Amino acid sequence: MAAALEFDQVTKEYRSLSSRRSIRALDGFTVQVEAEEIFGFLGPNGAGKSTAIHLAMGFMLPTNGSGRMLGKPFGHSATRRRVGFLAENVALYHRPAEKLIRFYGALNAMDGSNLAKRTRDVLQIVGLEEHAKRNIGKFSRGMLQRAGLAQALVNDPELLILDEPTSALDPLARVMVRELLLSARNNGKTIFLSSHLLSEVELVCDRVAVLHRGKLVRFGKTADLLQSSERIEIVARSIAANAFAGGVAHNGIVRFSVPASDQRLALERVWSLGGEIVSVNPVRRSLEEVFLEVTRDRQTPLAEGVQ
Ligand SMILES: Nc1ncnc2c1ncn2[C@@H]1O[C@H](COP(=O)(O)OP(=O)(O)O)[C@@H](O)[C@H]1O
Ligand SMILES: [Mg+2]
Repeated sequence: MAAALEFDQVTKEYRSLSSRRSIRALDGFTVQVEAEEIFGFLGPNGAGKSTAIHLAMGFMLPTNGSGRMLGKPFGHSATRRRVGFLAENVALYHRPAEKLIRFYGALNAMDGSNLAKRTRDVLQIVGLEEHAKRNIGKFSRGMLQRAGLAQALVNDPELLILDEPTSALDPLARVMVRELLLSARNNGKTIFLSSHLLSEVELVCDRVAVLHRGKLVRFGKTADLLQSSERIEIVARSIAANAFAGGVAHNGIVRFSVPASDQRLALERVWSLGGEIVSVNPVRRSLEEVFLEVTRDRQTPLAEGVQ
């Protein structure tokens, strides 16, 4: 299946008019987002996420490299109608919510009763049906983000590009977004989601890319990135909790972790102490840890398995 979104060696430099300096916001960025996946796009502030998204949407041109969205070069206007986009800082015209969503639907060549129904449906999906007649100028930030999501969904897009879609939402609304994304994916849609909320990406994304200073520093299946081959957790019975550093006892079971290279030694030690092994598993890290690890110190060489 063709990729839904692909960046091929994309570099973007912003040139300052006042000085001769230029900022390389994106540096040889290459990634392929497959159709029907939820793809997480992570990175600290200033990493270049919004820049990559704006290039994909055709708002500006890359300095170097190229990319395709739904098989067409970035900026292909007819393809834009098959894409839903939510900007990081939602800036919408101050109109009643319902009128606004209809306006965006009309921009995507929708009309008539089809548009009226779809508008009501998306307002309901994002939980704004009771506020449909209110002017969004009076909306809270969270409500604006919901309106932005409704706007992105109105044309029933094949590809949904969301730049930090939940930054202003409360926990309940975040659950709503998570369910919305999963159901869209199950209906054959592709979602490209930038976020610094690692815990959320972890829950919904099939694959993730981590961007740092414009460069791709990690890329792969979410589950693979969370699997650390560096440490192994051992659960044992009938040994003292203090037999191993960091051992924690609970109901007669002791849990501790060791570097993978020490696994065999640790198991033998449990047996020599008269203990019994209950389980041996690679330690599952949170995406937060992976993220900190790759962004904390970019002087250190990248670990194996990194592009
Ligand atoms: N229009 C612009 N002009 C100049 N520099 C910009 C512009 N937009 C972004 N930048 C710079 O490019 C880098 C990446 O920014 P951005 O893509 O917004 O990152 P992110 O979305 O990951 O926070 C930052 O250093 C930022 O200051
Ligand atoms: Mg951004």
